[in-house]
Amino acid sequence: MYDAIELAEAKNALAGSIAWRSPSNIALVKYWGKYGRQLPSNPSVSFTLKNAHTNMRMTYKEGTGNVVLFFEEKRNEAFEGRMAKFMKSIADVYPFLQSLDFQIHSDNSFPHSAGIASSASAMSALCLCLCSIEQQIFGSLQDADEFLQKASYLSRLASGSACRSVYPKLGQWGIHDKIKRSTNQYAVDVSGEVDPVFHTFKNSILIASAKEKSVSSSAGHQLMENNSYAPVRFKQANDNLEKLMVAMKKGDLTTFIEIVEEEALTLHALMMTSTPSYVLMKPNSLELIERVRSFRSKTGLPVCFTLDAGPNLHVLYPANIANEVQAFIQEECKPFCENGLIIEDEVGEGAFLLNS
Ligand code: DP6
Repeated sequence: MYDAIELAEAKNALAGSIAWRSPSNIALVKYWGKYGRQLPSNPSVSFTLKNAHTNMRMTYKEGTGNVVLFFEEKRNEAFEGRMAKFMKSIADVYPFLQSLDFQIHSDNSFPHSAGIASSASAMSALCLCLCSIEQQIFGSLQDADEFLQKASYLSRLASGSACRSVYPKLGQWGIHDKIKRSTNQYAVDVSGEVDPVFHTFKNSILIASAKEKSVSSSAGHQLMENNSYAPVRFKQANDNLEKLMVAMKKGDLTTFIEIVEEEALTLHALMMTSTPSYVLMKPNSLELIERVRSFRSKTGLPVCFTLDAGPNLHVLYPANIANEVQAFIQEECKPFCENGLIIEDEVGEGAFLLNS
């Protein structure tokens, strides 16, 4: 399908442009461990973010699969190589990409120094652009759900967690027998299956350290292959996902908090118990965790934290307590953030087509 012959026969012009904005996401139940062609060892679910996003503009014309990429207006050969390699790797799905040349302009809304992972937003933006190109050339993918599903499928092949980013509010990826439509192939939109309080969630990112991660996620996933806790972990993630979805449906914030923090700390425990072992938290991460927990027990407010595979805290809370939580963050957390850096984000609406 979509090969060079079909391409030559395509009625539409083999040149065009497209632009997408795609957000980052923060996992509540973590994907950690994969096998085969980017298949997850356990199911996961994440909040789609709003402010942290990638804008990607792509022009294409007949060619031989060349990619020229400008990141924040500067040619970036490393990023260019990664994109070109990915496009080649999906030749079985999209052979026509090798008959086109691409020029890409990409930028992120968040600062480099923030230690926020950019692969979810960048790779999902790229795959959304590729699906639009399929649509422009072949006239396929007219159905909006089918379009997002394919974009999610391709995003998964590029970077696992990226597949959850294309959907509004809450994306779930990975097969689970209690979640209908769930599959390892792509993420699904589960935003309609939770209490609306979760659509209002804020995410204040406390930058405990802005340094580059000491281990890439790909290397981290690989370490799970020999981690003796892996089978227990994969079962825990399945159980946690089920409990979390039930709690979110009921609007049960207490159980939500319990599971989200357990997931974050388990992810870090897995890294600590891998060979080689990594401690990804910094002293300030622990300080901030203690502060969030003691603020919660003092005030009874439903605020919790999660962590990526890095030292920064994502503080999560419903919008109706934003004033109290943000005042606490300014007064008690900011001194423990690198250069006082805090990034405000919230649950967002997924990916958007931009004017190209
Ligand atoms: C800790 O999606 O970055 O953020 O599939 O190798 O690209 P690759 O990994 P990636 O892993 C993300 C791991 C995580 C948890 C999560 O987002 O679920």
